[in-house]
Amino acid sequence: MKPRVYVTRIIPEDILDLLRSECEVKIWPEENIPVPREVLKKEITDVKGVFCLLTENFDADLISSAKELKIISNMAVGYNNIDVSAATNRGIMVTNTPGVLTETTADLTFALLMMTARRMGEAEQYLRRGEWRTWSPLLLAGQDIHNSTLGIIGLGRIGESLVKRAKGFDMNVMYYSRTRREEKERDLGIQYRELNELLKESDFVCVMTPYSEETKNLIDLPELKLMKRKAILINTARGGIVNEMALYEALKNGLILAAGLDVFEHEPVSINNPLLSLPNVVVLPHIGSASVNTRRRMALTAVNNLIQGLSGKLPDNLVNKEALK
Ligand code: NAP
Ligand code: GLV
Repeated sequence: MKPRVYVTRIIPEDILDLLRSECEVKIWPEENIPVPREVLKKEITDVKGVFCLLTENFDADLISSAKELKIISNMAVGYNNIDVSAATNRGIMVTNTPGVLTETTADLTFALLMMTARRMGEAEQYLRRGEWRTWSPLLLAGQDIHNSTLGIIGLGRIGESLVKRAKGFDMNVMYYSRTRREEKERDLGIQYRELNELLKESDFVCVMTPYSEETKNLIDLPELKLMKRKAILINTARGGIVNEMALYEALKNGLILAAGLDVFEHEPVSINNPLLSLPNVVVLPHIGSASVNTRRRMALTAVNNLIQGLSGKLPDNLVNKEALK
């Protein structure tokens, strides 16, 4: 008998068919509405596997209601939506989709940096509102990207990909990360800085760490106060790594110049979030990995992880090997 799995969102049909060839699949049918928690709780009581998105909060309570569960396959590289230790304690494997979205997310991160530095969102709205009367020397003048200093917090896969883009713009690149990587410093031509030093020296700061207890509010008011008044903060990692209220204060009071955000503490972000009232903030709805090809690769990777886990193989992207003990 095929193992039963629950899929929390519609994915491309050919990839679903691959999953159907190995498993009995039930799918939440709404494309733009996440499965309500109570429905999810009921649906997973007797399944062996779940294919989920970062919109599903697999906390200890939800995990405990899934009595037969062997694997949670997340279609994302970040897996802070899953209580991994609760899953591990129950012997449930957790998998993610690293690598396949690295370049696409680095593209978006650099695009957001450019958009924020050169005030492209503001400029587009200005034109569409019919306010463009003439060319003017300082009209919508922003910050130069070339020859400026980029500070990357978290030199992992995406952080490293960002370096390549920055070097193409003749940027001076420094990084702070949990693990210092001296070989990468030599190979990529970048310099290590302690966090406070990086914040003081950078014109642009990009946050690229996962969200964890360690990185929660990593950038708070004291850190924002260290930054240059002309500095720009970009966060495409996770909301909650940057304290949103502190960021609002910093932007409103001119402690830093601008921010570009693809991620928020609570998603979807409320249109009443004060950050959205500021002209010097560029906001995007968590689309870092959103290219058609990359989203297909992520879905395929997540399906493969699920099939591997349910057929007794070691999934390619297992994040908790301890669950197998
Ligand atoms: P990764 O390869 O694991 O890189 C993360 C880096 O952060 C690693 O170098 C890690 O150091 C470092 N780090 C971890 N904890 C830290 C801490 N407390 N202080 C300083 N550095 C720390 O992950 P990735 O593939 O680059 O992805 C990074 C994150 O981006 C994901 O976790 C996800 O949340 C986010 N993301 C967002 C989007 C989007 O759509 N906006 C898309 C993809 C990813 P070590 O080398 O010591 O582990
Ligand atoms: C997206 O945010 C991801 O973590 O893949």
